[in-house]
Amino acid sequence: MAHRITLIPGDGIGPEVADATVRAVEAAGVAVEWERVEAGAAAFAATGTVLPEAAFESLARTRVGLKGPVATQVAGGQRSVNVALRKRLNLYVNFRPIKMLPGLRTRFQDLPIDMVIFRENTEDLYSGLEHEVVPDVVESLKIITKAASVRIARAAFEYAQREGRRRVTAIHKANIMKMSDGLFLRSCREVASDFPGIEYTELIVDNACMQLVMRPETFDILVLPNLYGDIVSDLAAGLVGGLGVVPGANLGDTHAVFEAVHGTAPDIAGKGLANPTALMLSAVLMLAHIGEREASARLQRGLESVYAERQFLTSDVGGAASTAEFTGALIARI
Ligand code: NAI
Repeated sequence: MAHRITLIPGDGIGPEVADATVRAVEAAGVAVEWERVEAGAAAFAATGTVLPEAAFESLARTRVGLKGPVATQVAGGQRSVNVALRKRLNLYVNFRPIKMLPGLRTRFQDLPIDMVIFRENTEDLYSGLEHEVVPDVVESLKIITKAASVRIARAAFEYAQREGRRRVTAIHKANIMKMSDGLFLRSCREVASDFPGIEYTELIVDNACMQLVMRPETFDILVLPNLYGDIVSDLAAGLVGGLGVVPGANLGDTHAVFEAVHGTAPDIAGKGLANPTALMLSAVLMLAHIGEREASARLQRGLESVYAERQFLTSDVGGAASTAEFTGALIARI
């Protein structure tokens, strides 16, 4: 029976990488009935809202989504589609594995980098609660709750235990934000005490950024509040080749939306140059999530072999191939 999956192609390079990924999933041998729905700028032009109810309803029904990037207006405009989806579907885990693809030439190519980022996905400064106190003075509310901190920490430790990982590191700024980050840290410590077999360490976020660049191979599982998680995961992507090659997943207890970390890349949109690897690696995670483990492994191996050969890489990772050439080579390998 075919899996029903919601497909949100998104804006900019979104439709290009989404179409390539749909072809790759089919080549991996999985039958999918895609429910294609719009969100973002394209949806706004057609319906007057960036997140039409139809998109939300489809995800609520299928429980699994594959999503391209959507454009979010800077300083003003409508609320972010990503933040709204994560909140409404209670996708509280932002899961970002950071690992080097074979053959990729990066500054850190000789280091065995293999870390997984667990970013809290529903609160912190992304609560969207901002207001002007008096003219020219703005207040943004950073919300940290014990419930959300405990559940992201628990997700990180349970993953560490399940996957045989050694260490979980909580990243914070509790030396300055003693109450909010203090609560996050105390929640992580409490969860850590339930997992005596897994080493637990803590790092202040600024030091963590320096250590990530100096010694990236020493990191294992990272757990962070929303804002630090957002920034640190782009930094970590840069260690292994950039935004074009790292996957992501937004996970809750009942729903999951798989998406690349990168944005709409307006500078290359519509030119056939986008690297679809990040969304394809997100599809690798998605296939494992829906129980298609063999197809997931096939797609992963296919991507690894295209990278190892280095003949059909896109320009962001030092090649000269178009999105279509890369995708054609991948499908041939699968
Ligand atoms: P961006 O990730 O779109 O682009 C940053 C740089 O990376 C650009 O030079 C771009 O060409 C390159 N790049 C990104 N993805 C690539 C790919 N797959 N292949 C080759 N090169 C790639 O970040 P930027 O410019 O800050 O954001 C643009 C728009 O995307 C904004 O409207 C932002 O709000 C939105 N955005 C959406 C996200 C989402 O929907 N998940 C995540 C991040 C940004």
